[in-house]
Amino acid sequence: MIIRRLRAADAAAYLELVNTTDVESDFMMQEPGERQMTAFQLVISINSPANNIFVAEENGNLIGQLIAFNMYGRNKRVIHVVHIGISILKTHWGKGIGTKLFDYMEKWAAENGVKRLELSVMTHNERGIALYKKMGFEIEGIKKSSIFVNGVYVDEYLMSKIL
Ligand SMILES: CC(C)(COP(=O)(O)OP(=O)(O)OC[C@H]1O[C@@H](n2cnc3c(N)ncnc32)[C@H](O)[C@@H]1OP(=O)(O)O)[C@@H](O)C(=O)NCCC(=O)NCCS
Repeated sequence: MIIRRLRAADAAAYLELVNTTDVESDFMMQEPGERQMTAFQLVISINSPANNIFVAEENGNLIGQLIAFNMYGRNKRVIHVVHIGISILKTHWGKGIGTKLFDYMEKWAAENGVKRLELSVMTHNERGIALYKKMGFEIEGIKKSSIFVNGVYVDEYLMSKIL
């Protein structure tokens, strides 16, 4: 298994991966089938400095991904902040792949002027929270009723790590 940056040639495989993880987990931001992005749009977004996507590859297949993006834009006052999203194929949960993706991303962040890593996570996503705490993230607060999942308003933790 290797961790590397997403390449334009991966676009179709990447969309298949995230469409699958949207189905496999209720902890994602998107409902299954809700993503509208085409491979062409993804290739454009890969080339934007605002989006940094890292993937885990095993035997030529993408099995996990982590995106670190400038959610608040790239103005000077906020360019040091990246927001993180992550998903792994269910068959590969609990095997340390999330840990490896975070390690890889953090090295990239340290070399690229990132000061603040942040993410939001549903308060009942125990596996996700365990991973983030293990990687040094702290809970900053609770975003109340910030997500509507399966007919229920759910709270999220806002978590961050300062480099
Ligand atoms: C959350 C997710 C990214 C974690 O990736 P992963 O590769 O499974 O994580 P890792 O195996 O590297 O580490 C998970 C850690 O949580 C621990 N853990 C697993 N299940 C747990 C649970 N129910 N409660 C507490 N800790 C748990 C593991 O023991 C491990 O810690 P360790 O290395 O100290 O033993 C992955 O499970 C996933 O894609 N889930 C569905 C989508 C999702 O939730 N995305 C994040 C949205 S914010």
